[in-house]
Amino acid sequence: MTRTFAIKSYGCQMNVYDAERMAESLVADGFVEAEEGAADIVVFNTCHIREKAADKLYSEVGRTVSKAGDAGRAKPVIAVVGCVAQAEGAEIAVRARAVNLVVGPQAYHRLPAMLRDQEKSGAAGRNALVDIDMPKASKFDALPARTRRAPSAFLTIQEGCDKFCSFCVVPYTRGAETDRPMAAILAEAATLAQGGAREITLLGQNVNAWADPVHKTQDFGVLLASVAALPGVERLRYMTSHPRDVTQAMVRAHAEIPELMPYLHLPVQAGADRTLAAMNRRHDVAFYMGLIQRFRDARPDLAITSDFIVGFPGETEADFQATIDIVETVGYAQAFSFKYSPRLGTPAAERADQVDEAVKSARLHRLQAAISAQALAFNRRTLGLECDILIERRGRKAGQWIGKSPWLQSVVVNGDFAIGDLARVEMVAAWPNSMEGRLMMAVEHEAVSAW
Ligand code: SAH
Ligand code: SF4
Ligand code: F3S
Repeated sequence: MTRTFAIKSYGCQMNVYDAERMAESLVADGFVEAEEGAADIVVFNTCHIREKAADKLYSEVGRTVSKAGDAGRAKPVIAVVGCVAQAEGAEIAVRARAVNLVVGPQAYHRLPAMLRDQEKSGAAGRNALVDIDMPKASKFDALPARTRRAPSAFLTIQEGCDKFCSFCVVPYTRGAETDRPMAAILAEAATLAQGGAREITLLGQNVNAWADPVHKTQDFGVLLASVAALPGVERLRYMTSHPRDVTQAMVRAHAEIPELMPYLHLPVQAGADRTLAAMNRRHDVAFYMGLIQRFRDARPDLAITSDFIVGFPGETEADFQATIDIVETVGYAQAFSFKYSPRLGTPAAERADQVDEAVKSARLHRLQAAISAQALAFNRRTLGLECDILIERRGRKAGQWIGKSPWLQSVVVNGDFAIGDLARVEMVAAWPNSMEGRLMMAVEHEAVSAW
């Protein structure tokens, strides 16, 4: 009998990418994708980065099981994959007995086979099947070729992290930093482009630390130029970069590669040197500001974004003020900000000088107001400019569409479009989180069918 599946993803872009690859490998194995409410198998693709993200899993599993019960359906098979699976392993099935499979981020190429094993053992196999191996052989070698069709596609080039920031679980959940070979990346990018992807975003926890594992001299700058040169790749992006891994070739790429979009996500996390040192970020504010200057010299209109953590253990009011100062000095186009969340097994969680929850909340609020003001200022600077936007989806009102500008702004525009069109607009209105564009030229629709 054909079995149907649905995947629910939480967390970062890499999880979105993993979900696509899992879906492709399940389909290649004869499974059929369905709506969550109708699926025989529900896959939870989880995130462990903060406590709230991890806890979500348990409430969501409960909700899925009771919804199936209310609708008079059999309980779906529940698979937990991703970073919570790696961090908590078999414990997950103890805490949530409805869970049948637990599969880590480096083992998900085995998901179809595990689902078949689970089907064979049926009700008799009450114990959850667990695979949180970090095998030497890469999952990428076992996964089928890309089949997804979309105008904008993610492509993981590097995974894992050796940096061990004192607050972060990623080195434990994703494992050691591993780079995919240049040839495999270019082959996947070419397949995506042939399938209609006009924009490719290269992904990695430290994407700019990438170096070809076969020819070590091929670094991230070379990779950017090589992907940009592929036929059909009209826009290229990458994230997330680490300040310590910035190279001159990468800075130059922003001046020299027309396909490389003027956008840089370079998280600083905090604005006080003593906080950065306690975070084990391995850079100070002066070093970071020097990088920003070099990037801006290469590409003056670069949109720069960051992640911030407020309320890191020991953070004083003066330290926090330094974070507000760096937001205002850099003039970020956008930023993500989080309250520090202590994670079991990380050094910062052991510290005695944890910051009070109410203080964290108040600081987050102030930081978000500062970020929002800078984002609005950035967006206003683009008013009157003409640019191409890549149409991604319909807007709320009839005739309205939403596309992405080169600076990754969401731009609302009226017109007759299809998903995947590149439309020439003039920027006519600015808000902190979006823009309005006016169509300059009618677009030729790309002949792409089912997006
Ligand atoms: N590799 C990237 C970040 C990956 S995690 C980098 O080094 O910048 C994404 C973001 O989650 C981080 O940038 C950080 O801001 C946030 N984050 C990570 N651990 C956290 C924690 N314990 N509490 C709050 N935010 C956290
Ligand atoms: Fe986490 Fe730091 Fe590695 Fe980023 S560089 S993934 S924040 S340990
Ligand atoms: Fe979350 Fe894992 Fe990504 S912890 S942020 S899903 S790498």
